[in-house]
Amino acid sequence: MNLEKGNLLYRGKAKDVYQTDHQEQVIVKFRDDITAGDGEKKEVMGLKGYYNSLISAKLFKILEDAGIKTQYIDLPEPGCMLSHKLEMIPLEVITRNIAAGSLLKRFPFQEGQTFDPPIIQIDFKNDEYHDPMLNDDIIFALGLATSNDLDIIRRITLQINGVLKSFLESRGLIFPDFKIEYGRDCNGNIVLGDEISPDTCRFWDKETRDVLDKDLFRKGESGVIEAYQKVANIILDKEDKKKWSLDF
Ligand code: TMP
Ligand code: ASP
Repeated sequence: MNLEKGNLLYRGKAKDVYQTDHQEQVIVKFRDDITAGDGEKKEVMGLKGYYNSLISAKLFKILEDAGIKTQYIDLPEPGCMLSHKLEMIPLEVITRNIAAGSLLKRFPFQEGQTFDPPIIQIDFKNDEYHDPMLNDDIIFALGLATSNDLDIIRRITLQINGVLKSFLESRGLIFPDFKIEYGRDCNGNIVLGDEISPDTCRFWDKETRDVLDKDLFRKGESGVIEAYQKVANIILDKEDKKKWSLDF
C-alpha cells in the first residue's frame, strides 16, 4: 500500500501509525525494529514486521469473530494493517496464566505456577518511568481511566484471554501471558488496539516447551525470527497462507 509522506501520526518503538483519506481510519505499519529494556537494546530483524502483522491480524480476526471489538479492519498487505483510529490509553494490560518473566523477579511465585483465575496486572506505558505497575487509585489520580473504564477493560481482557488461550491450545501452544493495550474510538468506546504478537505475548510449544517469542531476543538467544515464523505457521490457516503465498 502506498503511504503518503507527511501523514505520520505516531511513531512507536516497533510500529508507525499513518492517517488515511478516511478521517477515522489509520494504517498501522509494523516495522522490523525489535527492542528490549525500554528501547535500550535495539536491532533490526528482517521480516519481523511482516510476521507480526500477519499474526496480529489473525488474532484480531479471531477476537472479532468472538464478538470482541478491535481496531482491526483489514490487512491490505503484510506489514500494513488498516485500523480504526483510536485515542490510545497509556496502560499495558498484562494477563498471566502461568508465572513467568518479571513476575518471578518481583514476587515469590514458583516458576510455572498456574493462575486460575488469571492475574491481571496493569502497568503505566511510559519508558521514562520504566512502565511501573499501577493500582486503581494511581490510575484515577493520573487521570488515565475511570473506575467504569477499568471494569470494562478487565472484563474484555478476561474474555480475550479465554478466546485466545483455547485457540492457541488447540494449535499446540501454551499461552503463559500477554500484554494488550486499549484505546477509545470516535464514539468513546473502549476498543482493543496495538498488536498481539510474539513481541507482546509469551508463546511456548506444548510438546517441546520451546520459547517462541521475544524472550529469545531479551535473553540474547538465537533463532528469534525463526520462532516468529513458526508462530505464524501455527496460527495461520491454509487460506491465509495461500492469500499471501507463504510457502512454509
Ligand atoms: P513480563 O513478565 O516481562 O512483565 O512480561 C509480561 C508480558 O508482557 C509478556 O507476555 C511480554 C509482554 N511485554 C510487553 O508486551 N512489553 C513490555 O515492555 C514487557 C516488559 C512485556
Ligand atoms: N517494551 C520494551 C522495549 O521496547 C521491550 C520488552 O518487551 O521487553 O524496550
